[in-house]
Amino acid sequence: MTIDVLTLFPEMIEQALSHSIPARAQKAGLVDIRAHQLRSWAIDRHGTVDDTPYGGGPGMVMRVDVAHAALSAIDHTHRAHRIMLSPDGDQLDQGLVKELSQKKKLILLCGRYEGFDARIEKYIDQKVSIGPYVLSGGELPALVIIDALTRLIPGVLGNQESLKDETFEDNLSDYPQFTRPEKYRGMTVPEVLLSGHHAEITKWRRSQRQEI
Ligand SMILES: C[S@@+](CC[C@H](N)C(=O)[O-])C[C@H]1O[C@@H](n2cnc3c(N)ncnc32)[C@H](O)[C@@H]1O
Repeated sequence: MTIDVLTLFPEMIEQALSHSIPARAQKAGLVDIRAHQLRSWAIDRHGTVDDTPYGGGPGMVMRVDVAHAALSAIDHTHRAHRIMLSPDGDQLDQGLVKELSQKKKLILLCGRYEGFDARIEKYIDQKVSIGPYVLSGGELPALVIIDALTRLIPGVLGNQESLKDETFEDNLSDYPQFTRPEKYRGMTVPEVLLSGHHAEITKWRRSQRQEI
């Protein structure tokens, strides 16, 4: 799978993905993530990517010609699934994460300021929101999507089994987990987990998963 991120802050993406599971996934060649500087497609030598809104009003709007040039350059036959991060997009949930993890090529277009000129919608496939609140830019949402979907790519997690009982699988929460110390400030570990009786442990864990 390849993921191209179009952003004014590629270093935010690169830095955040240089740790833990996303870093391992890239090193293992299971996902190829590239962060591109949108300014490289600016229309002037000052690297201008935004302008004042027609009709007036506060803030700056990101230019459609710059974003379109970037999309065409990295995906000129439109093979990728092109996502624009936007607070009014389809709300990200585990179902959508699964759907996106099946795509071979993804593009994540990150806005800043007042967002993109509305005409960009002609060149994207989907708008995605990570929640009903407004952030300053699309980089954190892009990272949330990348993190959530890379862990679903077969081979990325050390133990694929850990996905099977995770929260949201079968519309249930994960079961509670415990580790050493066995006693902590008067709190103990459920007896059954110390019993070594695998069938009983499985039964107990199943009983602990809550509907969500
Ligand atoms: C300050 S916001 C623009 C907000 C826009 N004026 C509005 O009211 O919808 C700048 C950029 O941050 C990103 N963004 C902000 N909140 C987001 C969210 N909840 N989910 C996804 N992207 C978000 C989008 O890429 C957006 O273009």
